[in-house]
Amino acid sequence: MSNTAPSISAIHATSSAPRSDSSSSSHTTPASLTITRPDDWHLHFRDGDMLAMTVPATARVFRRAIVMPNLVPPVTTVALAEQYRHHIMAVLPEESNFEPLMALYLTQGTSPADVREAAQNPNIIGYKLYPAGATTNSSSGVRTIDAMGPVLETMQEFGVPLLIHGEVTEPEIDIFDRERVFIERYLAPITQKFPRLKVVLEHITTKDAADFVREAHDLVAATITPQHILMNRNDLLVGGVHVHNYCLPVLKRRTHQEALQQAAISGNPKFFLGTDSAPHVQAAKETACGCAGCFSAFTAIELYAEAFGQLNALDKLEGFASHFGADFYGRPRNTETITLVQKPWHAPKTVTHGGETWVPYWAGRALQWQVA
Ligand code: DOR
Ligand code: ZN
Repeated sequence: MSNTAPSISAIHATSSAPRSDSSSSSHTTPASLTITRPDDWHLHFRDGDMLAMTVPATARVFRRAIVMPNLVPPVTTVALAEQYRHHIMAVLPEESNFEPLMALYLTQGTSPADVREAAQNPNIIGYKLYPAGATTNSSSGVRTIDAMGPVLETMQEFGVPLLIHGEVTEPEIDIFDRERVFIERYLAPITQKFPRLKVVLEHITTKDAADFVREAHDLVAATITPQHILMNRNDLLVGGVHVHNYCLPVLKRRTHQEALQQAAISGNPKFFLGTDSAPHVQAAKETACGCAGCFSAFTAIELYAEAFGQLNALDKLEGFASHFGADFYGRPRNTETITLVQKPWHAPKTVTHGGETWVPYWAGRALQWQVA
C-alpha cells in the first residue's frame, strides 16, 4: 500500500479525479469518479453463440478491446481476422461505437509477407506470440522462437506490435518460474535484437516482469489483469483449490502481487489495462482438470476500481485504464467519459446464456464501485 497516495476526499479538488461530496442533508451523495472511457487491451471473446454475451459485456464500458486470436482453429490470417471481426460487429447493439482490434496468431509458419499484409490493415493491431503449449488453444503456437527472426524483423520494420504470452513451456521449469525464465531466455534477447519493435508483455504476474518492463526501452510495455493485482496464489490454493481463480500465467506469491500493484498505480505509462477476461463454462472449470481463465468482463472496470481504491490510488486509474494503452499503440485517446459511483454491490454469482452457465471471476463478492 502506498502511504503517499491521496485518499478520495483529499483529491476532491482535481477536475478529473474522484469527488467525495458530503451534504448537510440526511442524504449523502456517493463519491463519484469520472474518467475517460477506458479500453481493454487484452481479452477473449471466443466465437459463435457466446459472442452475444461476451461482446456486449465488454462494450458496455470499453470503447475498444484487443481480441485475442486463440480460437480453434486459430486466427492466423488477415482474412480469418476479418471474418471473426464481422461476427463480433454483428452482435453489437446498434448505438454502440465499440471497436474490436484484432490480434493475429503467430505460428512457426507466419511469413514476412503475412506481416506486410497485416501491417496494411487498420483493424489488425499486432501479432500474438503463444509459445506452443503454454496456455488455452496454444498448440499451434511458436515452437522455436529463435527461428522467428525474419518475421520479427519485418514487424519491427512495418511497426507491427508483438504481443507476448511470456512463459516457457520446458517441462523442467517450475510453473511459478515460467514467466521469469521466459524473460531471461527469450524476451530480453528479443528486445535487444529488435530495439524498435513494439512489444507488450501480456498479463504480467511477477516482480521480475514489472522490473524488466520498467527498465526496458520505451517500446516495451505490459498489461496487468484485475486478478493479478487483487489476488495471490493463496487465493488459489489455501483452504482448497479455487478453480475460478485459476488462470495462466498462474497467480504468484504475495510479494509479486504487491510489485504488480505498485506498477499499476505508479503512473508509469508502460503499464496499462488488459483484463484477459477468458470465459470457460462452469463445467469446464469445475472438473478434475479445469481450464485456465478468469471471466471478468461483466465487472472489469469495477474490479480495477476496487483494487485502486484499496490502494488509495483512484487518481491513477484513468491513466492506467484510459490513456496509456492508447498512447502506446498510437491510437487517439477516447473522448467520451464514464462515471463510477461508490455504491457497494455484489458481482454476479453466475451468468447464463444459450442454456450454458459461467461462474465469473469475483462471483458473489462485494465491490465498492459501479458504473453510473
Ligand atoms: O488464463 C488464461 N486463459 N490465460 C491465457 O493465456 C489464455 C486464456 C484463455 O484463452 O482461456
Ligand atoms: Zn489472454
